[in-house]
Amino acid sequence: KSSMQKLNVAYNDGMRLLLKMPRWSSASQMFVVLFLLERKMGASRRAFLSQLGRKKGFQVEEVFSERVTHVICENNCSDEVRTWLHSQVGGRTSAQPLDISWFTESMRAGRPVEILDRHKVQQIDEAEVVAFSVPSYACLRRTTLDNHNPVLTDALSLLAENAELSDEDGRGVAFRRAAAVLKALPEPVTGVTQLRGLPCLGGHSLRVIRDILENGASSEVEFTKQSERFKALKVLTDIFGVGAKTAERWIRDGIHSLHQLQESGQTLNRAQQAGLEHYDDLKQPVTKAEADAIGEIVEEAVVSVLPGAQITLIGGFRRGKLTGHDVDFLITHPEEGREVGLMPKVVSWLESQGFLLYQKTTRNSYLEAKDGPARPASNMDRFERCFSIFKLADAEKRGTKQTENTPEDTCRLAAHSQVTDEGPKPASGHRRWRAVRVDLVVSPISQFAFALLGWTGSKLFERELRRWAGHEKAMSLSSHALYDNKQGRYLKATSEEEIFTYLGLEYIPPSERNA
Ligand code: UTP
Ligand code: MN
Repeated sequence: KSSMQKLNVAYNDGMRLLLKMPRWSSASQMFVVLFLLERKMGASRRAFLSQLGRKKGFQVEEVFSERVTHVICENNCSDEVRTWLHSQVGGRTSAQPLDISWFTESMRAGRPVEILDRHKVQQIDEAEVVAFSVPSYACLRRTTLDNHNPVLTDALSLLAENAELSDEDGRGVAFRRAAAVLKALPEPVTGVTQLRGLPCLGGHSLRVIRDILENGASSEVEFTKQSERFKALKVLTDIFGVGAKTAERWIRDGIHSLHQLQESGQTLNRAQQAGLEHYDDLKQPVTKAEADAIGEIVEEAVVSVLPGAQITLIGGFRRGKLTGHDVDFLITHPEEGREVGLMPKVVSWLESQGFLLYQKTTRNSYLEAKDGPARPASNMDRFERCFSIFKLADAEKRGTKQTENTPEDTCRLAAHSQVTDEGPKPASGHRRWRAVRVDLVVSPISQFAFALLGWTGSKLFERELRRWAGHEKAMSLSSHALYDNKQGRYLKATSEEEIFTYLGLEYIPPSERNA
């Protein structure tokens, strides 16, 4: 080694001693050699922070060596770091593990700040930690509506939504999975150390959680909430019939609000026109009472046009949710084939009674032989399905109708409220009805159990069920069928329980599918 290098080493050694003293005294950042641990932090964040540190004049090493004086970690415990250091240089290092907070505070200060206890990487005493244990597939967990971590799950769901609206589905799913893991915890989380060993919590999600636990809010979440882009995407995609792609296009044309959309002269399709017209109503959550009232109307429609046909409430309300963004029903008939042609009749009945403000029906295009296992991704839209907007009379009016009145009264009622609404509002200022999104799905009885399972949700629960089926069981699950790839055949089922059994899963009732 050159004498200069030797001097350097001696100097660094001396400084290292100095740095271990309680105060930094006159130590300057040039004697601090930092290395950022990638584990948990993630490669891109590590690269970003390393770069930032260098810009602020810190020496940040790309590769670990004996020169390193401090190892900066995020969300690691000291055992983890020690194990890692050992794997690198067999323990021949005196580098001190420090929490990321020390690094960020030092960057802010423009010099290495004093090392306080809170900057030291925590030693975790396994016995003291209230560690949670959660299986990694949501379909192995029982997730009720009793969420003990709403602040954290709301934050992660917002980031998921932002990712989905920005055409970043992978990131969206990652945030949804992280939120779902927290929803399954039996208690509120109070510190990130409790989350060690939990599945589906990547560096990004952990950072958000930690920000909220330590600072009360996540800067990323707050920034997203305030961002013009996110706000515009939300307002526009809240219009029924408008997806992320359309909203994106409009935003590029400078449309950020409903007012701007109306002024823009954009051509709207029929669904979007209805969506815009009933915007305020459709944004209002649907209550369980309203869902039940609609259930009675749909039931009446179904049995009027095909006696013996059955309807089942599906979606969030079947999982026990108290409100929803829409109401979903599954319709079938116990005799295979009798359901054919049912949807148009139901729709005509509802229309003739004045119950529909909008409807669009898609035909059943599912063919087992052609579409079954080969096209698992396309399962979602193959049932005969009706997307509609219902005109639901107010509670008082409904009460009389359901106990005494005939369908003709309901018709009159609906027509009457339409007239008052077109003219000036009644003196009371109250409208007599509201618009509600309703989805109707018709399934042949042979596919009923699969449709019921597939349409009960939650969306993440469904996604995880299909992932489990594919990855762990070599089966393809859709809302129509279950195909066993090894046996090369379809597995018939008449109940959800049977499907869980085929999949080697414990039965999870709807109220515990709120992942
Ligand atoms: P929803 O979007 O209605 O969600 O889909 P939800 O759980 O009822 O919650 P709300 O309405 O926002 O309160 C219900 C179920 O139907 C399935 C989804 O997988 C979800 O589990 N679904 C929905 C489909 O299979 N295909 C679709 O095109 C839409
Ligand atoms: Mn729903």
